[in-house]
Amino acid sequence: MLSSGDCRDSGRLGRRGPETRGDYGGRQPAGLRVRQIRPAARSYENEVQRCNPGASVLLVADETITIIDNRTGERSDIPIVNGGIAASSWRKALPDVLFTDPAFMSTAACESSVTYLDGDEGILRYRGYPIEQLAEHSTYLEVAYLLLHGELPTAEQNEVWIHDITYHTFIHENVRKRFLEGFHYDAHPMGMLVSAVAALSTFYLDAKDIHDSDSRMKQIVRLIAKMPTLAAAAHRFSVGMPFVYPDNSLSFPANFLSMMWKVAEPQFVTDPALVRALDVLFILHADHEQNCSTTAMRTVGSAHADPYSACAAAAAALYGPRHGGANEAVIRMLNEIGSLDNVDDYIAAVKQGKGRLQGFGHRVYKSYDPRATIIKEIADQVFAVTGKNPLLDIALKLEEVALSDDYFISRRLYPNVDFYSGLIYQAMGFPIEMFPVLFAIPRTAGWMAHWAELLEQDAKIVRPRQLYVGHDKRDYVPVDQRS
Ligand code: CMC
Repeated sequence: MLSSGDCRDSGRLGRRGPETRGDYGGRQPAGLRVRQIRPAARSYENEVQRCNPGASVLLVADETITIIDNRTGERSDIPIVNGGIAASSWRKALPDVLFTDPAFMSTAACESSVTYLDGDEGILRYRGYPIEQLAEHSTYLEVAYLLLHGELPTAEQNEVWIHDITYHTFIHENVRKRFLEGFHYDAHPMGMLVSAVAALSTFYLDAKDIHDSDSRMKQIVRLIAKMPTLAAAAHRFSVGMPFVYPDNSLSFPANFLSMMWKVAEPQFVTDPALVRALDVLFILHADHEQNCSTTAMRTVGSAHADPYSACAAAAAALYGPRHGGANEAVIRMLNEIGSLDNVDDYIAAVKQGKGRLQGFGHRVYKSYDPRATIIKEIADQVFAVTGKNPLLDIALKLEEVALSDDYFISRRLYPNVDFYSGLIYQAMGFPIEMFPVLFAIPRTAGWMAHWAELLEQDAKIVRPRQLYVGHDKRDYVPVDQRS
């Protein structure tokens, strides 16, 4: 959305009406002369000119919204741009009125070209590429490159990228010894990860140099590369096993599995099907546009904090059971249900408001989460190696009952990415405390892509307003006079 003072995208203005669509590939090129149909949209044109002198905008009659202030009778037309309307334009028309949208249900907080999500149709694309194609053909590291750079790497770029990530997987010994090993023996690994990521900012002082693109990329590489090392170290500590150093001869997912499970063998070897399954799960979790943790990343990043601090904030958001903690909550729920006979009672209790069906529902998806469809397929491949997770049958029955129940149908509640991912992780041997950690590893690529994008956009600091509903002015009362 183009807003006052925000001139970053003035060459790509306006969604054009159907009669002109196609001439410029749906984008308004800078420098095109104005053919303005509604005079009231002139303020918008002025905004365009201010941001990009010489540029102009084509607006058509059906691409505006009219507001009439019934208090004054004043009428304003606001243009719709890329499917959104700039709140700043509304504020100009209604200067004393704020918009109330506490959970951003109806607010586009930014422009982004990283990920496209259509919740009604169940579509997810990274930089235009369908998630199904990426899951089938790509690797997590290639996807991370795509998210960050906007294009798939050439063979040469891919080689350099893999090399760079591989050679940044080691962590400073003091991160492990002083921070990770300083935790209590039963610390949750996600809490350890959040803290360790924040602590990295104290090791890489150049991370403060956020306006230097080379420095930015260095921190991004470090973060993507070190996440699995920190994650595995947190696990090893929690089970009293010695830390395993990264093995540079292994792929990204295989190296992570090695750091998790290696005991005394010279090199860790596992079934390639499990390595590939983990890589696909990483692809599926790599980004999901403006979710809670990415919004945290962008919010903290907008204050120009270093990327480690912002990433720790994002990981903290991901920790919550409504977000990345849901896969852990799913397994706890399936354990609680315990048997197929209890499924109907559990669903009945959920319908009475006694808890939620974990792994179901999504703010944006109002149809089947496309990631859940892919995950169901991976589950079969993993179970062929590990043996079936005994909780799978309960999960399948739960899904079947819920999807035919009016409570879930009417609210458009479907399984989300977390409904089956936990079953796979558990079958692969990961303890459930590690599930949100397994989400954080790949999501780091998405967080970093959004962080880099927001800095390139020179985005303003995030600072929402509020509707004050507290006391009016009142005078201080000394303690001995209070009732
Ligand atoms: N079980 C039962 N009822 C539900 C559920 C659920 N999982 N999710 C939503 N509802 C009901 C809710 O009670 C409400 O009903 P009513 O209109 O009668 O009050 C209605 O559906 C709308 O719910 P909401 O809380 O307004 O929806 P939201 O968009 O704010 O919440 C959500 C989205 C994901 C937090 C929520 O669906 C939820 O808590 N799901 C379970 C946790 C979960 O699986 N989270 C993982 C999300 S996907 C991974 C990620 O991206 O983080």
